[in-house]
Amino acid sequence: MINHYDALTAVEGSLDRPSAARVYDYFIGGTTNYAIDRNFAEKVRDRLPLIGEYCRTSRQFLGRAVRACSAAGLTQFVDIGSGLPSAGNVHEVADETRPEKDTHVLYLDNEPVALAHSTLLLAETADPGRFRAMAADFLEPEDLWERVTESGIIDVDRPLALVINAVMHFVNDDENPDDLLAFYRDQVAPGSLLVLSQMTNENPVDENERQALVDLIEYYETTTNPGFLRTKAEFARFYGDWPLLDPGLVYAPAWHPDPATLFAAAPSESRVIGGVARKPGA
Ligand SMILES: C[S@@+](CC[C@H](N)C(=O)[O-])C[C@H]1O[C@@H](n2cnc3c(N)ncnc32)[C@H](O)[C@@H]1O
Repeated sequence: MINHYDALTAVEGSLDRPSAARVYDYFIGGTTNYAIDRNFAEKVRDRLPLIGEYCRTSRQFLGRAVRACSAAGLTQFVDIGSGLPSAGNVHEVADETRPEKDTHVLYLDNEPVALAHSTLLLAETADPGRFRAMAADFLEPEDLWERVTESGIIDVDRPLALVINAVMHFVNDDENPDDLLAFYRDQVAPGSLLVLSQMTNENPVDENERQALVDLIEYYETTTNPGFLRTKAEFARFYGDWPLLDPGLVYAPAWHPDPATLFAAAPSESRVIGGVARKPGA
């Protein structure tokens, strides 16, 4: 079982470059980030002043999508690229939504610090029979899915929510995202839901913003997770032939906003797109 010492050890050797997980944690108000991450984050914010709000928008979308999946009756979540634990973790949102407290969540990430802290949080605060964090790489689908099936947490023969939130902008087109998504869609039972979002370069408000989004990608080249932005049209293919739930693939703040939703009055200013699709055949 991992302890605080193991979590600290995981940091060693991973602080030579900023990591997307820790930079995102900083932007959404978390505390599991280091000077190298914060300095990088502030350099990005100098160029793209609302980057923190875009990250919080992604996190808010995750919360609303998880609530919708739970409300639709799903009690299993496979969260790929789950990140560092922060406010509104999937298992917390699901348990709030379902008083039965019957949800199972498997968190998967390839970032050692994210894994260490997720494991610690779950060990100290959560039901180990329902929630677990494991190391896995989205780019290694067979291996990742073997971990899911053998986890003892998820019954892959029953519908589940496959959550890949704010991750696809770290998967470049030359890493075969179409085949990867097709593989994951094939593994799950009919009636499963696919929650996807990513940052978009669609419709920048002016030339300065267009160039800032190009610069953002260049900055991320120096991190452990180079980035890749997509328009809605380029992103829509990741749902395959699964029908999208209402209101479709939209700017994230337009997806069932609640009173706390950032950019609710002007969703296209958020730079985040997302949607939820259901596997047919249930
Ligand atoms: C921006 S964070 C999103 C965290 C969380 N999904 C959320 O929405 O709040 C992106 C996460 O994807 C993870 N990630 C990136 N590439 C990955 C890969 N190939 N396999 C697993 N995780 C990956 C990063 O380590 C990071 O934790």
